[in-house]
Parts: sequence; C-alpha cells; structure tokens
Amino acid sequence: MSFKDSKVVIVGCGHVGATIGYTLINQGLCESIGLIDRNREKAIGDALDMQHAVYFMNRNIKVEAVDYNACSDADVVVITASAPMPKDSHNRLEMLTPSLNIMKEIISSVMASGFNGIFVVVSNPVDIMSYYAWKLSGLPKNQIIGSGTTLDTARLCVEISKLFDLDSKSVEAFVMGEHGDSEMVSWNSATIGGKSLKDVMDDNKDRAKEGSFEKLRQETVEAGWQIFNRKGNTSYGIAASTCAIIKSILFNENRIYPVSVHLDGQYDLKDMFLSVPTIIDKTGAKEIVEIKLKDDEKAALQKSADVVTAFYKDLNI
Ligand SMILES: NC(=O)c1ccc[n+]([C@@H]2O[C@H](COP(=O)([O-])OP(=O)(O)OC[C@H]3O[C@@H](n4cnc5c(N)ncnc54)[C@H](O)[C@@H]3O)[C@@H](O)[C@H]2O)c1
Repeated sequence: MSFKDSKVVIVGCGHVGATIGYTLINQGLCESIGLIDRNREKAIGDALDMQHAVYFMNRNIKVEAVDYNACSDADVVVITASAPMPKDSHNRLEMLTPSLNIMKEIISSVMASGFNGIFVVVSNPVDIMSYYAWKLSGLPKNQIIGSGTTLDTARLCVEISKLFDLDSKSVEAFVMGEHGDSEMVSWNSATIGGKSLKDVMDDNKDRAKEGSFEKLRQETVEAGWQIFNRKGNTSYGIAASTCAIIKSILFNENRIYPVSVHLDGQYDLKDMFLSVPTIIDKTGAKEIVEIKLKDDEKAALQKSADVVTAFYKDLNI
C-alpha cells in the first residue's frame, strides 16, 4: 500500500504567503508544505520558524523551503508572489504590468516540474492573473481557482452581522465579479437565517438604517484599503479565506465559495475568469452555481466583466 502526503506549495513568502503557511499548520490542513520565494533566505527563515511552531500544533506537518521540483507531486500550488504594491496605490489593476512577468516565470517553472494539481491564485489583480495562469499552464479550467471575492464575501457578511449583532456565519450573501472596485452583490439572494436580507432590513429599520445596500457594498470594496492604508498589507483575512478554499480541495468538502473561475456561458459570460459561487472539491472548481440574478444585478456583473476583460489585450496571449 502506498500513502501520499497531501502537499501544498506556496510561491511567494511575503505577508500573504507566510500567513497562509502559518494558517495551514495552525489548522492542520495538510502533511507537507513547501515554501518558494525569489528571496530564498526568506523562504528558509519562514520554514524554520514554522517548523518550531508545529511542535505546539495538533498535527505533525513538514515545512521546508523547496525548489520548483517539489511541485511535481503537490496537490495545490498557491501563488502569492507579487511585485511590491506602490504605497500610494488605490487600485489592484495597477499591479498588472509588473506582475505579468512574475506570473509567467512561476507558471512555467511549476509546469516544468510535471505539476498536475490545482493552482490557487491570490496575487493581484487576481481575476486577470487567474485567467493568465490558466492560459499559460494549459491545465483544464477546473484546476485554476482565483481566491476572488471569497474574502470580500466574508467582509460583507461581517459588516451585515454587526448591524444585527449576529455571528457572521449566519449571514449568507455573495459578493461576485471582480475582486476590486466593480464587484457587485447578489442582494436578492442574500439571507439571514433563511429570511431574505431585504425582509430583515425592512423589519428592523432602526438597526438597518446605517446599512443601505450600496453603503454596505462600498464598505466591502473599501475594507481592504482600510487595512492596507494602516499596516501596508492585508494578511489574516486573505490567509484564512485562501485556506478555506484549500481545505475544501484537500478534504473534498464540496463547499461553495465565490471564487474566480473560468466562465463558459454561465451568467451569459464567456471565456473569462470572474468570481461566482462555485462548488469546490478535490478536482478543484467542480461546478458553478448559477444564482438567478435580477436584471440590475446581471447588468452590474456584466459591467464588472467588462472592467476585467478590457485588460486581456495587455496579456499578449
Ligand atoms: N486576492 C486577494 O484577496 C488578496 C488579498 C491580499 C493580498 N493579495 C495579493 O497578494 C500578493 C502578495 O501580497 P503580499 O502583501 O504578501 O506582498 P509581499 O510584497 O509581502 O510579498 C510578495 C512576495 O513575492 C516574492 N516574489 C516576487 N517575485 C517572485 C518570483 N518571481 N518568484 C517567487 N517569489 C517572488 C517576493 O520576494 C515577496 O516575498 C499581492 O499581489 C497582493 O495584492 C491578494
């Protein structure tokens, strides 16, 4: 009998990549973690630091600085490598040009190892980077998942839950489209405890007055910048949401998250990566969930698609 360790390789050990590594060991999600960074000393340092942390954790997990050969039998390769975000930036799309070559180099190195697992792309602009990774890798579309609006959805649910003093997990509302300014919310399908969010708002006008739908969407769009402007990066939320996606893959959970996936006619959108609710299992993006959107929501999603696809010409593929 042979037993294969579940393995995750993280490419890019900056704030996000290192925190994803730490979250993986803290939650005991796999048996082995490989760390790769252009700055190899940082990858070695993080690996040593995490090895010591594992002593106090529930599961014995191997953490090592590795080279790209280690991707050959990885179940998941997470890409968080990136050019530094300009300090005064307020738009993820500005990161596209400096990030293209980085993505190209990484995908070609990972694929040269014989990798046939699932890419989880986190680097921004994540929807365009996911599409680019799919094109460059030649892998089937289900094997590329962008973290997309999973984090934005958590941010939205947290803000809604604060209005009604609830656990945010009792709110079900999806942010969809671009992980960025044009993202939209499927308000019509949003519920709290099975009751439509609109009815909850109508029945609790005293509490809900602070949170009109557009204000909540704006707060969600701004949430990342509220953190970035204060500490120069965001790390815990993105690490937790990325690890939730990885867990659904490794544990074959079939959880539904709004991730950036290849659309092939769903929502009347074709040949692009954008976030929509998706069932995630050991094969990656198993199936897209098509929420019945209202006309204005459909128009907002189309607008978001137009924003993202306008950049495809810059990819030269
Ligand atoms: N999708 C999301 O929701 C979300 C949320 C937060 C951050 N991000 C994105 O994640 C990325 C990383 O953010 P960060 O704060 O960790 O940045 P960071 O600057 O701290 O880390 C980037 C790391 O990538 C490494 N790197 C650069 N080029 C490389 C290459 N060719 N090969 C290997 N490693 C390379 C750098 O050495 C650095 O350690 C950014 O693109 C950021 O915008 C996405």
